[in-house]
Amino acid sequence: MKLLYVLPFLVVIALLSGLFSLQKALSEPQRPHLHQDLKNAELPMGFNDLFAGSGDCQLCHDAQVNAQGDFIGIVSDWRSSMMAHSSKDPFWRAKVSHETLVNPQHAELLENVCTRCHAPVGHFNAHFNGQEFYSIAEMDLDPLAKDGVNCTVCHQITPESLGNYSGELEIGTEKKIWGPHEAPFTNPMINHTGYTPTFSPHIQDARICASCHSLMTPTIDYSGNLTGTDFPEQAIYHEWLNSDFSVNEVTCQKCHMPSIEDTVKISSMPPWLDGRSPFAQHQLAGANVFMLKLMKENMEELGITATEWQMDSTINRARRMLQQAALSMQLNEVARTPDTLFLEMILTNHAGHKFPAGYPSRRAFIELLVMNEYDTLFHSGKMDGDYNIIGEDEGFEVHHETIQTPDQVQIYEMVMGDVNLEPTTVLAYAFQHLKDNRIPPSGFKSSHFTWDTVAVTGQAMYDPDFNFESGIEGSGSDRVLFHVPLNGNNDALEVIARVHYQTVSGRWLEDMLDYSSDEIDAFKMMYEVADKTPVLVAEADLTSTSTDIRLWQEELFSVHPNPGPGRFNVQSENPLTAINVYDQSGRLNQTIHNFASPSVSQNMSIRIDGSNGVYYLEMLDDQQNRRTTKIILNK
Ligand code: HEC
Ligand code: HEC
Ligand code: HEC
Ligand code: HEC
Ligand code: HEC
Repeated sequence: MKLLYVLPFLVVIALLSGLFSLQKALSEPQRPHLHQDLKNAELPMGFNDLFAGSGDCQLCHDAQVNAQGDFIGIVSDWRSSMMAHSSKDPFWRAKVSHETLVNPQHAELLENVCTRCHAPVGHFNAHFNGQEFYSIAEMDLDPLAKDGVNCTVCHQITPESLGNYSGELEIGTEKKIWGPHEAPFTNPMINHTGYTPTFSPHIQDARICASCHSLMTPTIDYSGNLTGTDFPEQAIYHEWLNSDFSVNEVTCQKCHMPSIEDTVKISSMPPWLDGRSPFAQHQLAGANVFMLKLMKENMEELGITATEWQMDSTINRARRMLQQAALSMQLNEVARTPDTLFLEMILTNHAGHKFPAGYPSRRAFIELLVMNEYDTLFHSGKMDGDYNIIGEDEGFEVHHETIQTPDQVQIYEMVMGDVNLEPTTVLAYAFQHLKDNRIPPSGFKSSHFTWDTVAVTGQAMYDPDFNFESGIEGSGSDRVLFHVPLNGNNDALEVIARVHYQTVSGRWLEDMLDYSSDEIDAFKMMYEVADKTPVLVAEADLTSTSTDIRLWQEELFSVHPNPGPGRFNVQSENPLTAINVYDQSGRLNQTIHNFASPSVSQNMSIRIDGSNGVYYLEMLDDQQNRRTTKIILNK
């Protein structure tokens, strides 16, 4: 029994060591020699009342090398990250414009809100100087504001404002740059920048990131009035709090700024400076392969300062986050009859928050193909030429426990609903979640105080295999059943299962692209020619060899008499909770719940009323064991 308690902990450790060794072991593309990086366009330099341009930090914080002599410059790593591009990002710019076109009476308010996290250098400085609203037009005139979430933003968030989110962070006014090392040598930095490097452990706290990565937006109704309620648009920090990762102090920084134990000189001045260890790399890769690629294709127009090589290294890191640190997949054949192939797939999330997470346009979906030598017999999650999912329902596709037809597709996503509970992609109209079946992180519980903010919503709430395993909540996994109709097909079959990650779908963009403005038109042009291939996150296959009836029977359950005239007695090792009865073609015939008292609950007597023939019983016990067995009704 004890093992059960330590197991989740062990799993976390295993995953972590996996992630770290992965970050180290995977050889990065050959780093170019330092001089090649001089091809970079220049980073902004100069100061406003609170911040400095990243160009002012580059002099000393861009020549770091690891123990092998590889180049790991802080500025170089950061400058190709999404955060370095947060105010140039053409999707963001188009979306701000969309929001203000939909609600022009709130344009000032909206631009002010949107610049808070995406252009903090301009936004917070304007507010510091008593301005009530900060606008996109002002941002465009200020190269410093276009420096995104730069060095002096994260490093000046005050310890006092930790715990705030929605961008309501506070920037210190004493020109202190907080860092993780005790007793920094301060003179060179003070002389060159006026800022004092200052030790403070709060920089390693996940709440630094929470400042912007949990986001409640005020809701506007269709009369244009603020409803006074807030909508949790992004809640990565809250998801993380409600997981084993916060319990085990695996912070955002540990996964997104992977540390190395090497001794690294963190400043190139003075030359006699001692190295520091550990050293946190400013890689800051997430999942946004798509936009990084799009921006790389439009570097000049967007004013991007990173080199193509630097963009590629962040693109590769993001791809690795998705392909090697996000999700694992298991695919099993449960049973096969002349009419149906029964499959189960278990997807387990290894990220420190939901998968996918963050901005509401993110989604992941399952593609399942069943083929014989000549044909595709079944294809759920098929995409058209524009990477829209064929068969996705009007409005949105619900979460599925079982998939039985090709037009049913499992899409892991959050769907925003407006005040009329209609799906919407306008952030200001978002009032309530209509669906949220993004796979929770390990240890995620409905009893946690964050539940109101991060709740599972829609059909996934009723799926006994969603975030539950063996009756225990917090598995961070989803088990999906596939009942693939075979119509008597006798061939050997190949099954291929894939999970794809999509930053944004064409359908999600439809409403925005119906509008026109400089920003929307600019994004549209880049989007139309962009490579929209989703990222393949996980893949598995199996071969189903023949139609011999193979069933997953174990001593856990038994059924008597079989064949029988109508009443069957099921006996189980553990108390039974329910039995699903399927007919030959995999259609659910009935579900029988066990309401008997505990003393007899290991026995259940069930009645099958259909016509004579083969049925499949799927039996569930209180440990969430699930087995399928064949019975024959012979009246
Ligand atoms: C509290 C901070 C915060 C505020 C305020 C904010 N955002 Fe964001 N936004 C983020 C973060 C963090 C991400 C990245 C999340 C991710 O990658 O999943 C993001 C991502 C986006 C993206 C996706 C960009 C891409 O390249 O895929 C768009 C579009 C966007 N925001 C629009 C807006 C608009 C419009 C507003 C104003 C109404 C706004 N944001 C206000 C924090 C914020
Ligand atoms: C997204 C927030 C963020 C941004 C942007 C950022 N940093 Fe950091 N930085 C951190 C955090 C967090 C740490 C400590 C990480 C740790 O110890 O795990 C850190 C650590 C450091 C360190 C000490 C490195 C070490 O681990 O020995 C230096 C120096 C530094 N940052 C400089 C910079 C410079 C220069 C920039 C701009 C190019 C920058 N940072 C941008 C969050 C940020
Ligand atoms: C002239 C060189 C120089 C410049 C320019 C410079 N720094 Fe530093 N920085 C240093 C030195 C030296 C240290 C201390 C290193 C040590 O003690 O190991 C340091 C330390 C740091 C630390 C770590 C502090 C700690 O206690 O962990 C951070 C963070 C940092 N600098 C950020 C910045 C930022 C942001 C900028 C740009 C505004 C910047 N630096 C510009 C030289 C510089
Ligand atoms: C001042 C606000 C702010 C702070 C503080 C901040 N972020 Fe971000 N972060 C953003 C915004 C805005 C974006 C999205 C930029 C875009 O997509 O246009 C973003 C994007 C990211 C991404 C890229 C997501 C993707 O899909 O590629 C990662 C990873 C990330 N942040 C991690 C962190 C971590 C870790 C910290 C804390 C050390 C942190 N952020 C602190 C605002 C912030
Ligand atoms: C255990 C490692 C781990 C921890 C801890 C972790 N992340 Fe992540 N993060 C990942 C992985 C893996 C991905 C890529 C898969 C995904 O998108 O969920 C990711 C993706 C992201 C993204 C992009 C999400 C998307 O789909 O657009 C953002 C933003 C992000 N993380 C921010 C954070 C912040 C902020 C924290 C802390 C509150 C954090 N992460 C904690 C591993 C981690």
